[in-house]
Amino acid sequence: MLDGFVNTSILARAQKKGLVEIHVHNLRDYTTDRHRRVDDYPFGGFAGMVMACQPIDACISALKAERHYDEVIFTTPDGERFDQPMANSLSLAENLIILCGHYKGVDYRIREHLITKEVSLGDFVLTGGELAAAAMTDAIVRLVPGVLGDEQSAFNDSFQDNLLAAPVYTRPADYKGWRGPDVLLSGHEAKIKEWEISQSLERTQRLRPDLLNE
Ligand code: ADE
Repeated sequence: MLDGFVNTSILARAQKKGLVEIHVHNLRDYTTDRHRRVDDYPFGGFAGMVMACQPIDACISALKAERHYDEVIFTTPDGERFDQPMANSLSLAENLIILCGHYKGVDYRIREHLITKEVSLGDFVLTGGELAAAAMTDAIVRLVPGVLGDEQSAFNDSFQDNLLAAPVYTRPADYKGWRGPDVLLSGHEAKIKEWEISQSLERTQRLRPDLLNE
């Protein structure tokens, strides 16, 4: 699931260019029992399965023995909400571990002793943390200088200045009678900039007024 994602498109190019390294680890490779089990029944007779300490500890310890990690992140719906400022700050880190939660959860002692940051994508529950880890990896890696062709483009993203981005258009100027704003074809740079800012403000006001109060 993750191998395909991190070896496609911009993340693949970023790795080929040597700008980032992304390694996916299978916790089953760190088990000690013959069945390569990573989970077990919860104490207390609760429903579901819990990811056990041993494989997670073995994996994280093996990685930490090779290099220093700025954060050991756990993806969980009860974590701190992931957003653009968090992506910005994590993009400055040298090395990160993201542990994908699964099943009903992981043995809480892992969270107490090994995890430094718990992160949620939002108030909904995914089956596993892989999609959350993939989304975070994408948001973080695209901010690493050189990853996006035009370095400016990450700065213009929606949310970078708490404003939604202005709409964009390309050729043809008239598609089946659907026309974009004439100002964009005027070649008048100042007027185009002014249009872009007013569109940004108007869309933020209308769609995400909460951002303007932050
Ligand atoms: N794992 C399950 N649900 C999640 C969420 N909303 N965010 C991050 N990780 C999760």
